[in-house]
Amino acid sequence: MEQREQPIGVFDSGLGGISVLRACTALLPQEDFLFFGDSANAPYGEKSLAQVRRLTIAAVDRLLAQGVKAVVVACNTATSAAIHLLRQAHPDLPIIGIEPAVKPAALDVGSSSVIVMATPLTIREDKYQKLAAAFCHEANVISLPCPGLAEMVEGGLFDGPVLDGYLQDLFLPFRYCSVDYIVLGCTHYPFVRRAIARNFGQPVAIIDGSEGTARQLRRQLDAQGLLSQRQRPGTVTFQNSRPDKLTMSHTLFHMDF
Ligand code: DGL
Repeated sequence: MEQREQPIGVFDSGLGGISVLRACTALLPQEDFLFFGDSANAPYGEKSLAQVRRLTIAAVDRLLAQGVKAVVVACNTATSAAIHLLRQAHPDLPIIGIEPAVKPAALDVGSSSVIVMATPLTIREDKYQKLAAAFCHEANVISLPCPGLAEMVEGGLFDGPVLDGYLQDLFLPFRYCSVDYIVLGCTHYPFVRRAIARNFGQPVAIIDGSEGTARQLRRQLDAQGLLSQRQRPGTVTFQNSRPDKLTMSHTLFHMDF
């Protein structure tokens, strides 16, 4: 098969990356996608850096063994831990990572306070700390680690009193603050966007990095002459280290969120 007609591999620690996959398929409907979720090892965001690096490298190797022409690391945590190692190991492969959408939020005119929700590991890592520092003159960037939240989404909790209670506690310190943006810095969080909006308790713009990542994927494929030339609609194939998560993968792919 010609290289440009090979599938695009998309990877996440679990199901969250399906929010990015959706943006990619919307922008590149003629491409074939192979999504691998490592739900057996989720959540990555509360593991050590060394563990996340090892798991991410193994997941990307698994996609490469199936002949993908590009890899989207649809996980902020894995991106911050391992994207540079992946690029070193595969210099010719388009590898697209995701990072919290701090830039568009901070640069939006009139935005003065931006909360970034992400996993503890993403927030701890240097990559995110540098990103937040780069925009600290444009906005007050508040980093909010959310231990346990990706796990709830992974477990299919998109609504209900447990999630509401978690979010209300999380947002308590901001009750009397004026906040312009919430950045969803973990690919699991878009699936609970409505619960986040409701429990924040004041009107706030909520953004994530999935569309920016999809655009970056298209740019890189185009630059390398790797865009599919087929006219037919592409396919989406799901794989998961926990086969019992495959049904849920399809549900999330079609979910309205
Ligand atoms: N979806 C991942 C991210 O974007 C992390 C979830 C996890 O902790 O496994 O950061």
